[in-house]
Amino acid sequence: MSESINNKKPRIFSGIQPSGNITIGNYYGALKNWVAMQDEYEALFCVVDLHAITLKQEPGKLRAKTRELIALYIAAGLDPVTNIIYPQSHVRQHAELSWILNCFTYMGELNRMTQFKDKSSKNEANINAGLYTYPVLMAADILLFQTDIVPIGDDQKQHLELTRDIAQRFNHTYSDTFVVPEAFFGKVGARIKSLQEPTAKMSKSDANPNGAIALLDEPNVITNKIKRAVTDSVGEINYTDKQPGVKNLIDIYCCKTGETAEQAMNKFEGQNYGFLKKEVAEATVEELRPVQEKFYQLIKDKKYLDEIIKTNSEKASYIAEKTLRKVKKKVGFII
Ligand code: TRP
Repeated sequence: MSESINNKKPRIFSGIQPSGNITIGNYYGALKNWVAMQDEYEALFCVVDLHAITLKQEPGKLRAKTRELIALYIAAGLDPVTNIIYPQSHVRQHAELSWILNCFTYMGELNRMTQFKDKSSKNEANINAGLYTYPVLMAADILLFQTDIVPIGDDQKQHLELTRDIAQRFNHTYSDTFVVPEAFFGKVGARIKSLQEPTAKMSKSDANPNGAIALLDEPNVITNKIKRAVTDSVGEINYTDKQPGVKNLIDIYCCKTGETAEQAMNKFEGQNYGFLKKEVAEATVEELRPVQEKFYQLIKDKKYLDEIIKTNSEKASYIAEKTLRKVKKKVGFII
């Protein structure tokens, strides 16, 4: 069933929402993994704007953020010619398949989704049906492209399991239609924590701006946020869960250098927190400098970005339509 047989490269699909400012957690945990994978896979990297409107968005801002995120994908090193980089709303098949898959998903399954519970408890004024069926749209994203591998963070594990269940259910009800995708978990980057609350994930929707380092933060902002990062009163640098703030800083450092925590500890053993913070800040600034430079060049060139969006959306649409036609035929629509 997989389109990856016959010497074709296996396919990957992943996406980030254009809400909030993307952080070094997204960068190390997602983008850098994608960059490392792009040559071995046929890859689709989507900016999931349909998902973003499950929470209230300001239209002008959403538009700007979507374009920004496309530019950031490219600035981080994703090739927009060999990969398919596009905004989700430009490929109408996502929404169409999502509707069909809604009819193959049980409310009981959606009721169990921890992210829904979490998001609805934080947004009591806007618990809309889209927030509830969000995982079905995500399943549609993945299944539309006969995706083999889905790079995700731990927080999306449950959604991917649901995607697999939906695919299997559909295949079983009719006949093989969808590739049943596998999750791929990145390394340490996926676990970067908030600088202010180092037991919670660093999040682009963090209410406290000091908790997250945005990819486009200026060097002095990065340095200040790291200086203010919460540590502890132990006063000694150890890599241990008992010192989550210090551990997180070491993790951030290792994301840049590629060292293991033990290797990094050779450098930090016996030093004070000030030294650690200075090193982490310098490493982070240095990592982001070229990405930011490239980003500011790209974002000025609206014509270029629009062209990328157009050609890539057409490519994605072409692939998606093949799956959607099969699905429509199987469920009994006139095609
Ligand atoms: N739900 C994912 C997140 O918030 C984003 C996403 C949407 C996604 N569709 C996807 C990730 C498909 C991987 C594959 O992180």
